[in-house]
Amino acid sequence: MKHRVTVLETGEEFSCAEDQHLLQGMQTFQVGMPMLKVIPVGCRGGGCGICRIRIISGDYEAKKMSRKHVPEQAQAEGVALACRVYPRSALQIELLPLPELT
Ligand code: FES
Repeated sequence: MKHRVTVLETGEEFSCAEDQHLLQGMQTFQVGMPMLKVIPVGCRGGGCGICRIRIISGDYEAKKMSRKHVPEQAQAEGVALACRVYPRSALQIELLPLPELT
């Protein structure tokens, strides 16, 4: 099952399957559409923090993330690493890359 992911800042959308993390969904080639590069992509393994986002609305499952980039308190407020997030419903997100990486 695929879910729609909307990036608040730009209004851009892509669809992401439940077994794909958000970066995979974003980069999956869709016929007739340019490859999206909405979320910055780095290590894809939850370590670098470049893909940090805040989930504004929707359900998701987050795999283990670096506490350095996403402290427990921030996670409770919806902060997550896009390469560790698997959608369970349509999501609205905003980009939140680490300040030192932008
Ligand atoms: S790409 Fe490095 S933490 Fe997601």
